[in-house]
Amino acid sequence: MKRTRILSIDSSNIENHGISEAADIIRHAGTVVFPTETVYGIGASIDSVEGIKGIFKAKGRPTDNPLIVHISSIEMMMTLVADPLSEKVRRLIHTFWPGPLTLILKKSAIVSQDVTANLDTVAIRYPKHPIALALIEKANVPIAAPSANISGRSSSTRFQHAFDDLDGRVDAIIHSEDSEIGLESTVLDVSRDVPVLLRPGFITKEQIEQVIGKVDIPSTSEASSAKPMSPGMKYAHYAPKAPMYLVMGETSGMVERINEEIASCDRNLKIGVLCCDETLDAYRHEATFVQSLGSRFDLSAVASRLFSTLRTFDDFNVDLIFCESFEERGIGVALMNRLVKASGNRIIRVETRTERE
Ligand code: TXA
Ligand code: MG
Repeated sequence: MKRTRILSIDSSNIENHGISEAADIIRHAGTVVFPTETVYGIGASIDSVEGIKGIFKAKGRPTDNPLIVHISSIEMMMTLVADPLSEKVRRLIHTFWPGPLTLILKKSAIVSQDVTANLDTVAIRYPKHPIALALIEKANVPIAAPSANISGRSSSTRFQHAFDDLDGRVDAIIHSEDSEIGLESTVLDVSRDVPVLLRPGFITKEQIEQVIGKVDIPSTSEASSAKPMSPGMKYAHYAPKAPMYLVMGETSGMVERINEEIASCDRNLKIGVLCCDETLDAYRHEATFVQSLGSRFDLSAVASRLFSTLRTFDDFNVDLIFCESFEERGIGVALMNRLVKASGNRIIRVETRTERE
């Protein structure tokens, strides 16, 4: 067990000792949980083998799953990459950085194999969050950081969740506000001729295509292959403790189906439902624990609440969860990607009325 320091830092007033202390820990081979605009991260210096090993150990993360390296300037980024930046990459950087877009590029020799899990590429992210930036600047070294959760659980979007998972396992946790976006960054592999979207996020495929033209997505067979393009694809993710069924279809059909499923369950089971404001009332009589993610007409808000709400089902010890699906448009693509993973592919498709006729 480590003695974990809790450092309170307000992002609107970060000129305090907390950042210096956190940066010192990073420089001396330690691990620090810090906020970003997407989710909280658990960081260590890319120059410290001990620090990097500490990340994998704290999370219980398989060592063949590489880390994202966080930078605070383009100058810092240039030390990490093998080749001059292509026109496409320069345009992406100009449009989306700092922000929730991670770019995969051929790596330089200074990035160790421990960080990249022996790949010849490195994932690079220039975060927008003022505390993340201040920490990297003060430590004066790129910081490798995966999401601040025990491997397999939902990413932490608030201090309390990072604390629940990692107290006693890291050297420090920065106590700050909830993450604004709430889903992890978009990951784009730009090391190939046609860039490949490895993980959907707040920055959408359409937004990227407007800047650089065609972007591929990995095929379903690729995503489930033994050696996928992004090692993280093959691992279970975001899973609540209870099995979760994701119900897909039009809203009224989903509500009807979920209530039918609940009615046919053993009366002694504690049933959870993850839904939206528009349907919340429809489940009150049947389910034990009903949580809304917000209005289904505000997908950004729904996305920002997803991970923290998923964790409440664990706290409530439900036996089974039914979850509504959301429109796969804009950030809805990333939202549904996380829901499919959280459900471990337990999907119930409800036919629409016209399909039934
Ligand atoms: O928003 C985010 O990206 C957060 C915050 C903390 O910045 N970080 C994050 O890291 O989500 P993590 O480790 O939970 O997810 C990184 C993903 C994994 O799926 C990993 O396999 C993939 O990026 N990845 C990292 N390096 C890669 C590489 N060289 N090639 C392909 N995929 C890579
Ligand atoms: Mg993660």
